[in-house]
Amino acid sequence: MKLSPLQIARYEYAPKLPGMLRNGIADICVKEGAATQSVADQDKIAALFPNTYGKPEITFEKGANTSEQKKQVVGVILSGGQAPGGHNVVSGLYDALKATNKDNVLIGFKGGPSGLIEDDYIIIEDEFMDQYRNTGGFDIIGSGRTKLETEEQFAIATEVCKKHGVTAIVIIGGDDSNTNAAVLAEYMAAHKTGVQVIGCPKTIDGDLKNEDIEISFGFDTATKTYSELIGNIERDCNSSKKYWHFVKVMGRSASHVALECALETQANICLIGEEVAAKKQSLSEIADYIADAVETRGNAGMNFGVAIIPEGIVEFVPEFSKLIAEINELLAGEKTEEFNALPSWDAKYAFIEAGLTAESMAVFAILPQGIQQQLFLERDPHGNVQVSLIESEKLFAELVKAKLAERKAAGTYKGKCGFLTHFFGYEGRCAFPSNFDADYCYSLGYNAFMLIQYGYTGYLSKVSNLSAPAEEWVAGGMPITKMMNIERRNGKDKPVIRKALVELDGAPFKFFDANRATWAVETCFTYPGAIQYYGPSSVCDITTRTLALEQGK
Ligand code: FBP
Repeated sequence: MKLSPLQIARYEYAPKLPGMLRNGIADICVKEGAATQSVADQDKIAALFPNTYGKPEITFEKGANTSEQKKQVVGVILSGGQAPGGHNVVSGLYDALKATNKDNVLIGFKGGPSGLIEDDYIIIEDEFMDQYRNTGGFDIIGSGRTKLETEEQFAIATEVCKKHGVTAIVIIGGDDSNTNAAVLAEYMAAHKTGVQVIGCPKTIDGDLKNEDIEISFGFDTATKTYSELIGNIERDCNSSKKYWHFVKVMGRSASHVALECALETQANICLIGEEVAAKKQSLSEIADYIADAVETRGNAGMNFGVAIIPEGIVEFVPEFSKLIAEINELLAGEKTEEFNALPSWDAKYAFIEAGLTAESMAVFAILPQGIQQQLFLERDPHGNVQVSLIESEKLFAELVKAKLAERKAAGTYKGKCGFLTHFFGYEGRCAFPSNFDADYCYSLGYNAFMLIQYGYTGYLSKVSNLSAPAEEWVAGGMPITKMMNIERRNGKDKPVIRKALVELDGAPFKFFDANRATWAVETCFTYPGAIQYYGPSSVCDITTRTLALEQGK
């Protein structure tokens, strides 16, 4: 493989550990805090996790290492969507493991959680590991979305662990994967397998955070990548002065990614799904809100702008969710075949019109035809509409165009501009990790091994105080059960880690809310530029605006 100059240079980068982990393995001791309890539904969670519930919070400190000296064989799994820094979690884990005992072994289970069940693995050694240090991607061992959640899977996993003499498994994943890590830890403890399970918080979406986990890894790099691109687009449209750009950004349901990009770039418009839901806004109201900015700016001679659209926006529009539910119902079971057999779009349209309520039909009717057809073409294996595939950036561009045509006819809108659409998602998931993510991930991995070495199970590797310099970060662990509550999933009550949505009374949203009216009509663009890996710390090591605002910085 031909290496880029940056990749060669990044091999030399030494990730920064929290101060308390910098003195060498022999000098890391553990401090246990008070017993913990889950954020809600304590009795139910305690009953479901009798062996792992209620354990104390852990912090590491400088002091003599008192852990038991035994050979460790650790299995590591990357789970779910890629997030920059995953390779550094593995390298931090590897370095702590080898520094503790050079006979310790790190097994990488390939292709995600299925690698454990299928016993598909690779033994990670120096030369192999060194090719992946400080690089983006999950290609070191691959990732996958198989869920480890059934007793049958756990029994097979136990056998695979026995075969390799595995003493611990580290699962690097999002809220669902870490929920499953907690269930697996409980199973392993209940069956006295001697296998510990530790989780690490990953996802670019930023929705795995709570009072213990300040940020999931990858969010920093992904949002910096998208913000760079949005800033470049802002500068382009501020130069040509003839386009409005509608930019959808990845992030699943929550709007954390969109909000962070708005804070970084001061784009004219940013929709926040959580606010749309709280205000029960309709598609037409949202389109009017954007059209107001286009009109005001256009009438003042600024026929350009940028609107950021979160990936999950349409799910939050109540009338749209109702429409989707009705479409799912309309095509349930054999009705899909009947629909598919209809000879033309006109015939299909008549079928749809006859099957939807008048209210949903009114919503359907205002959608551009391309989106209408998408709702009936892109279905998941259960026949449901795949909301995440809806091109909402195109949807809103079309709806706004229609509003502007009306306003032009009414004589209120005097401007003229073109509309361009973009979707930024995969562009940011495998970028070289920013210094923040490189340091944070390496620390999470290193820390995960210290939790293993000290005998803990059912914990999430926790590194906090992240808006301070790395020297002041606090390393430790938190029982995953502390972050759990009971939620209804697929018709059943399940213990899960609560997904974090954007809080409308949180500091990041409040800051955005206080400024957005100005950003909408004036040109206040900020150009973040590309991620910088070398240079002054004030440029290279800063983390997100979201984290800084949350921590009062
Ligand atoms: P995780 O939740 O697994 O971290 O994945 C995040 C994500 O990048 C979402 O933002 C996006 O909607 C989804 O993955 C895309 O999934 P896929 O990689 O399967 O296309």
